[in-house]
Amino acid sequence: MNLLSCSNNHCVLSSSLVAATDPPLKNLKVSIGVPRFGFGHRNGSLRNNHRVSKIVAYYGLKNPPYKLDALEPYMSKKTLEVHWGAHHRGYVEALNKQLAKNDVLYGCTMEELIKVAYNNGNPLPEFNNAAQVWNHDFFWESMQPGGGEMPTLGLLQQIEKDFASFTNFKDKFIEAALTSFGSAWVWLVLKREKKCLAIVKTSNAVNPLVWNDIPIIGLDLWEHAYYLDYKNDKAKYVNTFMNHLVSWNAAAARMARAQAFVNLGEPKIPVA
Ligand SMILES: [Fe+2]
Repeated sequence: MNLLSCSNNHCVLSSSLVAATDPPLKNLKVSIGVPRFGFGHRNGSLRNNHRVSKIVAYYGLKNPPYKLDALEPYMSKKTLEVHWGAHHRGYVEALNKQLAKNDVLYGCTMEELIKVAYNNGNPLPEFNNAAQVWNHDFFWESMQPGGGEMPTLGLLQQIEKDFASFTNFKDKFIEAALTSFGSAWVWLVLKREKKCLAIVKTSNAVNPLVWNDIPIIGLDLWEHAYYLDYKNDKAKYVNTFMNHLVSWNAAAARMARAQAFVNLGEPKIPVA
């Protein structure tokens, strides 16, 4: 996710903000008032014609890292069209409308925006949309065509260390998903202080970033995630995610980055 960064009148619009928006965000307006400095004598004093820059470009809708039909038959193109193309897009557009009215939140990365808007458990109005934008980007990237299978090398060893076995981890993850009530998410996270992997459940838009955990895998348990493909059979959806969709490649890459912040000792997770 990319944001127009602007400080001291030096404004940079990340090209990927526009490139990642397909189709382009309707109503995305980019208006960078280039500061003009004009110095001249008027009435015996220097005249400064500095015009204040105005930022009106926000977040774009990021594409999933595969085509919309790439997860079939386990997650249909129709589900991706509705889930990504309507629900996820709706969160992006709603967030941008909110940010247009709140200058205080300009300049944050998406992770910072989520933490600031969570406001220590007293969420600002922007929190739900911001978190849902991040959650969905993370969710699409938590899956891949030909997913499922087993994690490898260091990630597998860390799972075996923290959950006794991969089978036990899988059972616990599925159990957590199926005991979540209402609109929820289930996550595999790395705990910074305890230096271990854990399974975390969250409700609505809340994600583990607000507690400073490092998400490794995220599964969307809102009904809109599975109803078109699995009706009310949440168990089938969750098992299908684990057996055919979850991207252990993405998880290994996230663990490798996480080890820059959390010293797990051996084994180091190799970068994919
Ligand atoms: Fe969703």
